[in-house]
Amino acid sequence: MSTSPKPVKKVPIHLQSAQNRVYIKNGQIVNHDRTFKADIYIEDGTIKFVGSSSDIVIPGGVRVIDAGGRLIIPGGIDPHTHMQLKFGGTVAVDDFYHGTKAAIAGGTTTIIDFVLPDKGESLVEAYDKWRAWADPKVCCDYAFHVGITWWSKSVADEMRIMCEELGINSFKMFMAYKGLYQLNDTELLDAFERIRSLGGVAQVHAENGDVIAKNVGKLLAAGITGPEGHELSRQEEVEAEAVNRACILAHQVDCPLYVVHVMSKSAGIELARARKRYRNRGIFGETLAAALGTDGTHYQHECFHHAAAHILSPPLRPDSTTPEFMMKLLANDDLQTTGSDNCTFNKDQKSLGKGDFTKIPNGVNGVEDRMSVVWEKGVHAGLLDPCRFVAVTSTNAAKIFNLYPQKGRIAVGSDADIVIWNPNATRTISKDTHHHACDFNIFEGMTCHGVPEMVLVRGRICVENGVVRVAEGYGRFLNTPIRPPYVYDVLEGKVSLKGDDRNGEDHEEQLNGGLKKVNLAALEIEIPYQEPISRALMAGNVAMPSEGSLASTPSGRARVESTRNQQESTFSISEELDKSGNRACIKVRNPPGGKSSGFW
Ligand code: URP
Ligand code: ZN
Ligand code: ZN
Repeated sequence: MSTSPKPVKKVPIHLQSAQNRVYIKNGQIVNHDRTFKADIYIEDGTIKFVGSSSDIVIPGGVRVIDAGGRLIIPGGIDPHTHMQLKFGGTVAVDDFYHGTKAAIAGGTTTIIDFVLPDKGESLVEAYDKWRAWADPKVCCDYAFHVGITWWSKSVADEMRIMCEELGINSFKMFMAYKGLYQLNDTELLDAFERIRSLGGVAQVHAENGDVIAKNVGKLLAAGITGPEGHELSRQEEVEAEAVNRACILAHQVDCPLYVVHVMSKSAGIELARARKRYRNRGIFGETLAAALGTDGTHYQHECFHHAAAHILSPPLRPDSTTPEFMMKLLANDDLQTTGSDNCTFNKDQKSLGKGDFTKIPNGVNGVEDRMSVVWEKGVHAGLLDPCRFVAVTSTNAAKIFNLYPQKGRIAVGSDADIVIWNPNATRTISKDTHHHACDFNIFEGMTCHGVPEMVLVRGRICVENGVVRVAEGYGRFLNTPIRPPYVYDVLEGKVSLKGDDRNGEDHEEQLNGGLKKVNLAALEIEIPYQEPISRALMAGNVAMPSEGSLASTPSGRARVESTRNQQESTFSISEELDKSGNRACIKVRNPPGGKSSGFW
């Protein structure tokens, strides 16, 4: 049975308007660590009350919403988007208006986008430019990561300004895109060191750009010019090597590292290994809705446009078992977050790469469908429980980037970013009904359980009865303060990790004000799977991604219900790596770019 909230004094509500006062009753609240039935009162964009109806007086003039039979979850946080990004000689069609409208339609109420300066460009100037693009258009709240796309003393100096004056705490370095954004290892080390000294969080795009450049040359010379060449030039081990290298380099200078868009089994395994090796001190990983909801078999599609529409970097993997594997990594806390990397291009833009796959602008959709895809492939499939769903779609990103508990939690004092989620309703994804500006959807035709029936952005009802009503410019820029406690307290030993506690539960307890963990089996709402995740794991229904990482949801929920006999595990990281990471020779049967017979 879930712990009920502490008794509270009756809260008198002073009548104003129903516009900024909302009362949600009869819902089942799901936070990352517990779930319970409670009502919520919202005023002026923040949550003022969470508790029983007997503890609050509701006067007239308040909009009352009955959420009976629904889950109430914190609005999604997408930690990885690229609205109106200039890439490959063109500009992504989802701008900050369409992109955030699509986000809200899908239950995401905060995005974190990237300022990506041109080579040689001042970080501050790039930041100002991005703010000027975003501020008038954003419909939901947003923050920025900043790309370190070149390295110099002035960049290092400006990083301090970013952190101390401009609300930035995270920087993304590229190990790929040679000649454009790629940093070498010396520069990476310098950047990591700088980030550590500033109290920031480093991010990497982990692919070996030198290997890719060599492979591209070979593929083009061999006449492989179609979209299938993209994945062939950057196969799993090219990603896995970079993940491993980044983890080691960051560890050498004690810098917290967040690996963005982990797209393959091999890369996920490298990240899990590093987390284990460093006892979870400062290594985090994100995968994408795309990696969970589709796969790289689409690169073999006979239609150029279809194949090209799936191109992003790192690429989707042709192995159709990858999506489920990535979901298991999330379930076991080997990965912590899900982003979308939303960066959309239309057919005519993708056509820039006809005859040369390297010219296909990289990027796919995902900001609208991320929540539904994670629910469908995670919760509905029996791999995640609803609390873990909240963790990987919202709370963990809020913690890592220091937005918690303003964002990522339903609690008094938090922003009223709230989704009323119907776990039993379904919707079918289509480009014809999505809210993106783009003409293709990589999840086309997928029917997902889990529908965001109502979405509130800082108390404003933006989705209701299937209608999306957003206000351009309503969103606010969020400062992300340096030294996120979730990251730095563990790194600096302020929070001890006891025994094999890889999840910093002491810390969880601290941050959650000592709330007791809850047995999720006692969820009072009907959820669309029969067994809690831990029981499914115990029954051996789910392959375990890593030894010793079993009871690894940050809230310790799986640990509450079971302990696992590790001798029974059939999972081996090295076997998985051999199976998935060592494709030395690739055969392509009838790819759109012409035949190849396997080489190098
Ligand atoms: O293909 C991608 N991922 N496009 C956006 C840029 C990046 O690397 O994240
Ligand atoms: Zn990237
Ligand atoms: Zn990206």
